Amino acid sequence: MTLYMKVAQEFEGQIRTGALQPGERLPSVRSLSRNRKISASTVLQAYMTLEARGLIEARPQSGYYACATRAAVCTPLKMPDLGIKHGPVKTPDIIANMRKAGRDSGFFQLGCAHMDSQLYPVKRLSRLLAKAARENPEHIGQMDFPPGNIRLRRQIARRYSELGCSATADDIILTSGCNEALMLALRAGTKAGDTVLVESPTYFNALEVIHSLGLKTVEVPSDPATGLDLGAVREAFERFPIRAGVVIPNFGNPTGALMPDENKRELVKIFKEHQAWLIEDDIFGELPFSQKRPKPLRFFDSKGVVITCSSFSKTVGPGLRVGWIFPAGLHDEIESAKYLLNGGVPLITTELVADFLESGSYERYLRGVRQELATQVARISEAILRAFPEGTEISRPQGGFVVWVKLPKGLSSVDLYRKAVDAKINISPGVIFSASGRFENYIRISCGSWSDAIARAISKLGGLLK
Ligand SMILES: Cc1ncc(COP(=O)(O)O)c(C=O)c1O
Repeated sequence: MTLYMKVAQEFEGQIRTGALQPGERLPSVRSLSRNRKISASTVLQAYMTLEARGLIEARPQSGYYACATRAAVCTPLKMPDLGIKHGPVKTPDIIANMRKAGRDSGFFQLGCAHMDSQLYPVKRLSRLLAKAARENPEHIGQMDFPPGNIRLRRQIARRYSELGCSATADDIILTSGCNEALMLALRAGTKAGDTVLVESPTYFNALEVIHSLGLKTVEVPSDPATGLDLGAVREAFERFPIRAGVVIPNFGNPTGALMPDENKRELVKIFKEHQAWLIEDDIFGELPFSQKRPKPLRFFDSKGVVITCSSFSKTVGPGLRVGWIFPAGLHDEIESAKYLLNGGVPLITTELVADFLESGSYERYLRGVRQELATQVARISEAILRAFPEGTEISRPQGGFVVWVKLPKGLSSVDLYRKAVDAKINISPGVIFSASGRFENYIRISCGSWSDAIARAISKLGGLLK
């Protein structure tokens, strides 16, 4: 991508996500050129590109100003208070069909929260992999028992320390992805019949794991901007014997919500008071559009109630299956459970990720991909608002790459899902994000890919809804 396109894309992301508000002035050509050490003609070319796209306007003798986009000016999504709901998890059959469609390359993939494979650092990784296999072929033939590769655990610990969390390599066990980490945390921290607090809506695989372990959930309302309703969390603890909670504090799935720091602190305090495990899924934490990495819940935990689960599946690549867990007080149980499950994580892939992180390429890569995702989320949000019927509302995530869409009253996302399958479009209907079949008039759309074909698929969905 040329330099002027990069500059244009950066401002496009800011305008579409509302970071630059309609009517706000962009930096002058001269100041941007001076601050960035780029030529004035590069800045001018970037601004002209944005002007041609209708995103900014030139005002004589005054400068360039951001214009209003639909996504930036629409009313932010508000959800009705559905209250607290306790019971076993219902797992709809649709999930299995969605996974099947997710594997079918003939489908437009707006359902699974995966990025376009070209957005992952695949070229750099393939070079590192070839080098690693050439220099250390014996790694292919070696087991690496839990807790796993020390070089990678050091790198992960270093990143948490930089965020202000106390973390050493010894605190970490490597896993085969984040789902496995969630499974291990729940298995060690609960027993069948226990109750687990979840956000409503929440990530459907977490609900499936809870179901598979014979656990019950208490669904607690979660705001699409700020996450869990803390008053409702307190009420849930008063009414039910909660043993653990599963929370996605940073750019939650499906809404993209980001919990403010004071809410994170309070949430940790509540769980500590009730001596319940707080399992955080921080898989999207590295993908803030602002470039400011939000704090994980463990930053606010001095008593060891937070169990942090995450992986490189949304950053380095889901195919590597490399994740991790900070098991808090459950280290030994989780380490032996991980061994019993599948022996450990392959050395060849963990060495590869360690090489990538040690080379310093990860940080540079993250800066680029965050910007790219901000633009994709904004473009897809815009396309949805243009194509879907009047009355559609959409969440405005500040990171990650999923949006939560509320359809106008009376429309069913399950009906839409079925019609979309016939049109070879895969979407995630809202009901799968609830343990009790809530959110029939919501869908989650993945913004992991953008192309003209994706834009047409969104128009098609709009046509089906209308
Ligand atoms: C919130 C969340 N947690 C966990 C996962 C699964 O991660 P992994 O592929 O590392 O198991 C996903 C994948 O979509 C996710 O969205």
